[in-house]
Amino acid sequence: MTEDGKIPEVSLLKFLKHSANILKNPLPFHHNNFQKKGDTFRLNIGFNKSVIFSRDAGLVEYVLQKNQKNFVKSEIQTKDLVKYVGKGLLTSEGEHWKKQRKLIQPAFHKKQLANLLDSIKQAILLEYKKITVNEELDIFPIYNDLAFQTVVKSLFSSAANQEEINRLQYITEETQKMLVKELRQPYLGWWFKASGKIDSYLKLTAEARNILRKIVQERRESNEKYDDLLDMLLEAKYDDGNFMDEEQLIDEILILFTAGHETTSNSLTFTAQLLALNPEWQEKIYEEISSLKEQDLDLMSYVIKCQITQQVIEESMRLYPPAYFIDRVNLEEDEFEGKYFQPGSNLLFSIHEVHRHPDLWEDPDAFKPERFAEGGRKYSSQYFPFGAGPRKCIGNNFAMFEMIIAVTELVSQYKIVPGFDEIDIKPLITLKPKNAILKFQSRS
Ligand code: HEM
Repeated sequence: MTEDGKIPEVSLLKFLKHSANILKNPLPFHHNNFQKKGDTFRLNIGFNKSVIFSRDAGLVEYVLQKNQKNFVKSEIQTKDLVKYVGKGLLTSEGEHWKKQRKLIQPAFHKKQLANLLDSIKQAILLEYKKITVNEELDIFPIYNDLAFQTVVKSLFSSAANQEEINRLQYITEETQKMLVKELRQPYLGWWFKASGKIDSYLKLTAEARNILRKIVQERRESNEKYDDLLDMLLEAKYDDGNFMDEEQLIDEILILFTAGHETTSNSLTFTAQLLALNPEWQEKIYEEISSLKEQDLDLMSYVIKCQITQQVIEESMRLYPPAYFIDRVNLEEDEFEGKYFQPGSNLLFSIHEVHRHPDLWEDPDAFKPERFAEGGRKYSSQYFPFGAGPRKCIGNNFAMFEMIIAVTELVSQYKIVPGFDEIDIKPLITLKPKNAILKFQSRS
């Protein structure tokens, strides 16, 4: 095994020199270092700490899948996020995570999701009423609301009060913004605490938990069956025959809001922008859905047959993966292809770079949905929009079905015209779109 130094290093001086730009958008800095140092480099960030950045698809697979037992998530997910959303699937580790995943997984099986598709479609159609034709508008706020509403409607059907839902959305978004501030400006941590800022956000979180407690209690008392995600979660039993306790259930609901909201709205926005820039793909989708509509299919069969739309979304997530970084820390020392990782190494995989790696993709920066004509599985060793291995996104089918319905409904109603020159990004915890200005022309 080679020594630690085998991983090329980027100095603290260089990091500090570029820190202002890194804060604005770290992707060009990472890209330049990958070009100069190779697919894996160590960035020295001071105080004797370093982060190992990688765009090596083989290493991603090794860490997330093949040797996943030796890797845990970083404290960003298992500590920083926990204070606002609790210990649910996304934020827990070890036996607790395993037990929760086993319990919740069945609610996300394709068969079960079929029950939710009608509610999802209704939520989408309602949001699309906000689109005004022939004038420029930023599509992101619409998709932001749409993604939240679809998770809420899937969880609670129609049995929740709109005012409370809006409050839940507000709190979810505000606490996420606070977390971004804490992560980007760790040197202000003392001030966030001393000024009472963190406490005020914790109060908001407590308010969200109270709202959810009330919704859950009303459901328990109603004795009605809704066949939604909440019913599934309330009825699910652990191996020992027990149900999930109320506080754990609330943690899991908050996690679904957080994990399923921003990622999906980012992806839908980028997809709409890519379609605006590539009108020929709008027409391909339109043709496909026109012929499918003649077949009078149930919604699940229709969604599965929307192959062109699926390819477009897959290509959109290749170019603009909402979860553009995945992090892990190794428990014990490890080695991969001659690179040594001492215990506790911070590994940060740039999914954005893996998805545009010139050795892996032909014409990597071009929008070519036809790459996915044979399905995404062909690229399972180099395409990770939903992660990989046992911690792969539990909502991946949910997200795909939701996005297929959203895209097909959009294209069936409108032609999308760009009101921007180039797709602009804002990389925060997720890869967010910026100024997604579009114009919609009615097809009817
Ligand atoms: C385009 C949309 C989405 C993307 C790109 C996405 C991406 C991801 C990724 C990359 C992970 C793995 C993170 C890691 O390994 O560190 C993940 C985990 C997770 N996602 Fe998603 N996600 C999306 C939508 C959703 C939706 C709609 C839901 C739920 C309604 C959801 C719920 C979760 C949960 C609960 C986890 C944690 C799973 C576990 O650790 O067992 N996601 N997601």
